[in-house]
Amino acid sequence: MAIRNIVKEGDEILRKKSRVVVKFDERLHTLLDDMAQTMYEAHGVGLAAPQVGILKRVVVIDVGDGLIELVNPVIVEAKGKNEGSEGCLSVPGEWGIVVRPSKVKVKAQNRYGEEIILKGTDLLARAFCHEIDHLEGILFKDLAIRMVDPSELE
Ligand code: CO
Repeated sequence: MAIRNIVKEGDEILRKKSRVVVKFDERLHTLLDDMAQTMYEAHGVGLAAPQVGILKRVVVIDVGDGLIELVNPVIVEAKGKNEGSEGCLSVPGEWGIVVRPSKVKVKAQNRYGEEIILKGTDLLARAFCHEIDHLEGILFKDLAIRMVDPSELE
């Protein structure tokens, strides 16, 4: 495993659409392992492959309940609204208020290509939406209803 460099806002790779993963091979597993290690080292709760310079539909998330690996994730159901603060490892030191669904259902594949269905509420729902947005080249700043000073956050 290796820690990868996190791409920062301003790099055009963050604005590109990621490609669907078709090979569930050792290369993918290494990417997933490296992304998890990179996320934990940076104290993030999620990381998408474009953030390490790879335009593949691959995401890792850990909001405190264990590591979630998503390959080719798609939101298939979204309910409710939840207004909350959000940041991004690619946009260090900046925070914004983003309205997200309070519940989402995600269809994805695991590292072996098997279909998985996951449900998330609140912070996990927010993380699913935020990371899947990265695969479309969308940053939370694009959606923020306002940016906030970190001192405003508790
Ligand atoms: Co992000």
